[in-house]
Amino acid sequence: MNELDRIAVIVDDITSLQVDAIVNAAAKTLEGGGGVDGAIHEAAGPELLAACRAIGRCEPGDAVLTPGFRLACRHVIHTVGPIWSGGSHGEQAMLRSCYQRCLALADEHDSATIAFPCISTGTYGYPKNDACTVAIETVREHLDRSNRRLNVIFCCHTPRDGELYREQLRPLLSAPSRRPS
Ligand code: AR6
Repeated sequence: MNELDRIAVIVDDITSLQVDAIVNAAAKTLEGGGGVDGAIHEAAGPELLAACRAIGRCEPGDAVLTPGFRLACRHVIHTVGPIWSGGSHGEQAMLRSCYQRCLALADEHDSATIAFPCISTGTYGYPKNDACTVAIETVREHLDRSNRRLNVIFCCHTPRDGELYREQLRPLLSAPSRRPS
C-alpha cells in the first residue's frame, strides 16, 4: 500500500476524535495553555494536568505520552513545536523532529491511528504553508520507511487549513508513479 493511502485530512475539533492517539501542540512546561492545548486539557479533565506535571517538562522538538483520560482517544502525545522567529533559527528541523517523535511514540504504543493538529501554526506563528509542507513530508517519510500499521490524520481546525493540506497532497496523489500501468 502506498504511504499516501494511509494519510487523511479532516476539518474537526481534535478533542472529538476516537483514535488511538491525538497530538497536543503543548508548551514546554506541559502546564496547558490556549489553542488546541487548552481544548485538550479542558476535554480530558484535571487528570491530564496531573499526568503532565508528573512528567515535568518536554523540550522543543521532543514529545511525551499520557493517557487520554476523559477523551475518546487512548493517548495524548504532547509535543512542543518551534516558536517562529524568521526561519533561520532551526525552526524547520525542530518541527520535523516534533512529527518524527510523535510518530515514533505512536508506533511504540502500537497505535493504528494518530491525529495531528497543525503544530506551531497558531500562537507560535509558524507560516501555515511551510508547516504543512514539513508535516506532509515528514509523515510520508515515516510511513514509507515503517512496517507498522499506523495511519495518520491531519486534523485541521479551519476549512482553510483543510484546503491547504488537500492542495499540497493533490499533486502527490496524481503523480505518475501512482497511476496504474
Ligand atoms: N482541534 C484541532 N486544531 C485546533 C484546535 C482544536 N480543538 N484548536 C486550535 N487548533 P496553537 P501552537 C489549531 O496556538 O502554535 C498554547 O497556548 C489552530 O487552528 O494551539 O503550537 C500552548 O500551551 C492551529 O492551527 O499551538 C503553547 O504555549 C493549531 O491548532 C502554544 O499555544 C496550533 O495552534 C503552542 O502554540
